[in-house]
Amino acid sequence: MSVSIDGKTIIITGAASGIGRATAEVLHDMGTNVVLADLYQKDLDEVLAELDLERSRIIGCSCDVTVANDVEKLVATAVEKFGKLDGLVNSAGVIMMDNAWDTSNEDMKQQFSVNVEGTFLCSRAVALQFRDNDGGSIVNVASNCGKVGYQNMAAYNASKAAVISLTRSLSLEWSENNINVNAVCPGGVDTPMLANCAEWLGPKIGVESAELLSSMVPAQLGRHIKPIEVAKIIAFLLSEDAIIIRGQAINLDGGDTPY
Ligand SMILES: NC(=O)c1ccc[n+]([C@@H]2O[C@H](COP(=O)([O-])OP(=O)(O)OC[C@H]3O[C@@H](n4cnc5c(N)ncnc54)[C@H](O)[C@@H]3O)[C@@H](O)[C@H]2O)c1
Repeated sequence: MSVSIDGKTIIITGAASGIGRATAEVLHDMGTNVVLADLYQKDLDEVLAELDLERSRIIGCSCDVTVANDVEKLVATAVEKFGKLDGLVNSAGVIMMDNAWDTSNEDMKQQFSVNVEGTFLCSRAVALQFRDNDGGSIVNVASNCGKVGYQNMAAYNASKAAVISLTRSLSLEWSENNINVNAVCPGGVDTPMLANCAEWLGPKIGVESAELLSSMVPAQLGRHIKPIEVAKIIAFLLSEDAIIIRGQAINLDGGDTPY
């Protein structure tokens, strides 16, 4: 048996990089129509140019997930192009590392704005479409950081805990509309975001950033998680086969987080 989501239309935020980009490839390969969203059109155009994809089934639409007008335009563009929406992957996210003493109000607000408010705005905008049709699926990319604490990222950890909480609440509220909401909680995925964390921390603790990055791996797995590994689980959660999984925050960190 293979997971079936072909013919569906799915929006992916944060699709110009990392997990979002890998998810676009996986979903496209599985036969879905894919709407890539990220801050800058030029980055989306680059991704579209680099990937060998069937252009009739994939479009890029610039969107700042924290701006309600942008989000409305994104949803309208997707519906105009493909007729109907079936899924959303909230992968847009930011991390601004610092110790708790020095974390600025601006950095705290920015992480909550993108990671939490952006997830909420996009989820509600697509859910309005789902409600008027026959339902849909949402997968939020949270983090194992939302369940366990890590140093130098208190604001990020708290924002991801909020994404997990949002996932539960939206799932409960929207299940009567046949809208399924789940979250994934990766740890140590090989993306530019993780590399930037090592770049920030390395000089502070006197370790070469590249060496530090290679040590930032899930302990039991002993290697970085690949974006495509996360993308495949996201694809499953978007499918009808995941209908019995609701409001969950599933750890994708090689077993590091036991709950
Ligand atoms: N890499 C990891 O180890 C890891 C682990 C757990 C969770 N995550 C989460 O996974 C998600 C994807 O992260 P990634 O590692 O692929 O990072 P990434 O930096 O490679 O990609 C994040 C993307 O989000 C986009 N983005 C940022 N702010 C945006 C906004 N306001 N509107 C629209 N797009 C915006 C960026 O432009 C970028 O393309 C994030 O939510 C991140 O917190 C990552």
